Amino acid sequence: MESVRHKHKMNVFNLVQSRFKQALSKIDGAENASAPLARSSRPEFGEYQFNGAMALAKQLKSNPRQIAATILEHVELDDVAESLDIAGPGFINVKLKPQWLATQIEASLQSDNLGVETETEKTVVVDLSSPNLAKEMHVGHLRSTIIGDAVANVIEFLGHKVIRQNHMGDWGTQFGMLIAHLQDKLQASEVATTALSDLEDFYREAKVRFDDEDGFADRARQYVVKLQGGDETCQTLWQQFIDVSIQHSEEVYGKLNVNLKRSDIMGESAYNPMLPGVVADLKEQGIVVEDQGAQVVFLQELANKDGEPAVYIVEKSGGGFLYSTTDLAAMKYRSFDLNADRIIIFTDARQAFHFKQAELVGRKGGLIKEQTSYEHGPFGMMLGQDGKPFKTRTGGTIKLADLLDEAVERAGKLLSERESGLTADEQTEVARKVGIGAIKYADLSKNRTTDYIFNWDTMLSFEGDTAPYLQYAYTRIQSIFRKAGVEQTGFSANVVINEAQEKALAVKLLQFSEVVLGVSTNSTPHLLCAYLYELSSSFMSFYEACPILKEGVSEEAKQSRLMISLLTARTLKQGLDLLGIETMEKM
Ligand code: ARG
Repeated sequence: MESVRHKHKMNVFNLVQSRFKQALSKIDGAENASAPLARSSRPEFGEYQFNGAMALAKQLKSNPRQIAATILEHVELDDVAESLDIAGPGFINVKLKPQWLATQIEASLQSDNLGVETETEKTVVVDLSSPNLAKEMHVGHLRSTIIGDAVANVIEFLGHKVIRQNHMGDWGTQFGMLIAHLQDKLQASEVATTALSDLEDFYREAKVRFDDEDGFADRARQYVVKLQGGDETCQTLWQQFIDVSIQHSEEVYGKLNVNLKRSDIMGESAYNPMLPGVVADLKEQGIVVEDQGAQVVFLQELANKDGEPAVYIVEKSGGGFLYSTTDLAAMKYRSFDLNADRIIIFTDARQAFHFKQAELVGRKGGLIKEQTSYEHGPFGMMLGQDGKPFKTRTGGTIKLADLLDEAVERAGKLLSERESGLTADEQTEVARKVGIGAIKYADLSKNRTTDYIFNWDTMLSFEGDTAPYLQYAYTRIQSIFRKAGVEQTGFSANVVINEAQEKALAVKLLQFSEVVLGVSTNSTPHLLCAYLYELSSSFMSFYEACPILKEGVSEEAKQSRLMISLLTARTLKQGLDLLGIETMEKM
C-alpha cells in the first residue's frame, strides 16, 4: 500500500501538458515554445485542448494544422488518451481513456490526500483576519478571515509550510481614549470583561466623552504618549482592553469554524520595537527624506496624472509611527525572520495602493528578499439588498457575531420545515453547520475582487450554487452507503467506466488536483467553490443515469459506482473542509 500512496500523485492537467512540452522539445525550433492547455467545455471534444500550434506556426512561418500534425507525431499520450484530434485552425483535442480514468479513481481512493499532486515545500505567510481591536469584528472582517483561512488551508494541503499572521490593529491613537475610559469604569468597581462586554457601545461612549467632555481629550492624548513611552499603568489598562477584545474575536473564530490560534496573532504593537530601526535604515540609504517635518518616501513610479510622486509617510511630523511604518517592519520580519518565500495579505480593495507603495519602498530599501513574493489579495465589499454597504436597518455597522447567529437561526427554521428524521440535538447541530456554511460559501464563491450583494434567501437555498446544496449532495452519498450496507473505510473494488455520465464524473473528480493548485496560485477560493458545485451537479446527473442499488444493476457496476460515489463524497468533504465548511452524515 505504502508505495501506491506515494507513487500516485496526479494532476491530469500538468501530466498532459508535460507530455506536450516533451513533444515540443523534439521539434526543431519549438524547443522553447509555450504549451498552452485548456480544459474543454464540451465533452464531445474531449477533456483538454492544446492550443499551442497556432502561435508556433506563426513563429515557424508554417501552417498551424500541419504543425499540429507534427506535434501529434511526437506526443506520447497513448497510456492516457483514447484519441487526439486536430480541430478547427489547429487545436488538438485530447479525449481521455476510460480505463485510464478508472485506474486513477482507484488509486486516488488509496491515496492519503485524494491523489493531489503536492508541490515543493515553500514557506508562505498568510496575513488574514486582522481586525481592529478597538471595535468589535464587523462584516468587513468576515472576508479577510474566511478568504484568508481558505487560501491558507489550500496552500497547506499542497504541502507548504503556512504561517498564519493575524495582524490585529491593537495600536494607534484611539487606544488613548479607550484606556482612559476603561480606567474610569474600572474605578467605578466594574471588571474589565463586563465593562467591555459590548465593544461597540464602549467605543461610542468613549468617543462621546472625547468629543464633549472637558479635559477628557487631553487626558486621552496624554495616555497615548504614556502608552508609547511604556508607562506601566497605561500598559496594564491597554493589555486588559486587548485581552478582552481578542476574546471577542476568538468567539467569532469559533462560530466561524476558522483555524486561527493565539499564537497566530502578531498585532501591530508587536512591531513597535522595530520601527525606529526601519526608519533610520531607510534614512541612511537616502530613501526616506524629510518633508514638512514628516519622514516620507517619494515614489515617482506611482506618480499621479500631474506627475506628482506618491508620498508614503513613515513618521509623522513631531514623531510617531504609522500603519505604513508597521507594514514595512512586518515585511522585513516575514521575509527575513520567518523566511517567507511568499507573503499574501488579505484586506479590502481600498488598501491596494497602500500595499503597492509598501512593496516599492520595501524593495528599494532591502526590507524584503528579492525572491520573496509580496502579494496583496484585495476583496470587494459586502453590499445590502439596496446595493449600498451592508448596514443595520438603522444604519449602524453589523456585528459579525450577530450576523452569524442570525444565519444559524434562519437555517434552523428552514430545516424544521423539512422532513428529516433528525433528533432535536442533531437538528441544532445541522442548523449550525448549514447556517455558517451558507454565509461562508456565499462569500467564498464570489470572485473575491468584486463587491457582492448579501442575500439570505439565495445563500440558504437547497438548490443552486450554495453550501446547503453541497452539504446535501454529500449526505445523499452517505445515505447510499447506509442503504447498501457497505462500510466506507477500506472499501475497494474495480472501477469500470462505460456510461458518458460515469466518464464525466470521473474526469471531474480527477480535476480536483489542478483546481486546488489554481486556488493556491491565485489566492482565489471561488475556483474551488465552482469546482465543488460542478462536481455535485455531475454527481446528480451520474446518479440519475447510473443507478447503483436498483434491481437489475450488475454487481460489477454496483461496486464500481459505489467507488465513484465514494471518491465524490471524499472530494466534496475535503473540498468543503478546505473552505472551512463542515459536512454531516444526515440532514
Ligand atoms: N487592521 C487592518 C484593517 O482592519 C488590516 C490589516 C491587514 N494587514 C496588514 N499587514 N496591514 O483594515
